[in-house]
Amino acid sequence: MNQDSPLFKDLTSILYTEAELRDAVAALGKRITLDYQGKAPLMVCILKGASVFFTDLIRQIDLPLEIEFMAISSYGASTVSSGEVRMVKDLDRPILGRDVLIVDDIVDSGMTLSFLKRTLTNRGAGSLRLVTLLDKPSRRTVPLTVDYSCFQIPDAFVVGYGLDYDEKYRNLPLVGVLDPKVYTK
Ligand code: PRP
Repeated sequence: MNQDSPLFKDLTSILYTEAELRDAVAALGKRITLDYQGKAPLMVCILKGASVFFTDLIRQIDLPLEIEFMAISSYGASTVSSGEVRMVKDLDRPILGRDVLIVDDIVDSGMTLSFLKRTLTNRGAGSLRLVTLLDKPSRRTVPLTVDYSCFQIPDAFVVGYGLDYDEKYRNLPLVGVLDPKVYTK
């Protein structure tokens, strides 16, 4: 994507470049490959934000893994999570006894992953770990331990590499800070 794109012009700064994201995802893929030797984990992508990270990450994991998709959403076009979690799409298969890795793009309040952890544990996952590209620990409202994260970020509104504002910017190849002018208009 050309840096003259109007999408880039709405950013105040670039937080992680394409190369930094590629390196971090490759390193995480190696860690997961080592940690799950001899296993065939079930990787669960949380739509839509994690889609870009997920498809890059699974190609960096050298294991006979399987993939599933879930969609969880909070309401509205807002820069802050509403705190209300709603399941939009469930898994297609049972997960009894499976080694499950839930993959999301960002942990903010922790509501989404804590809801998913509870739900999939209750369904009898053999093991369950949480994976995120970005972690914003300063925003946590529920206690949650993330097992694998690429970057801890400050409390800024970030877009790109799957993350949106009002469904836009997901296709930016990097992670950037969105100009507040865009969402205070
Ligand atoms: C975003 C993000 C996480 C969640 C994190 O999803 O993808 O799933 O919010 O916030 P939390 O820790 O406060 O729960 P969103 O509801 O915006 O949907 P999207 O993935 O389709 O963009």
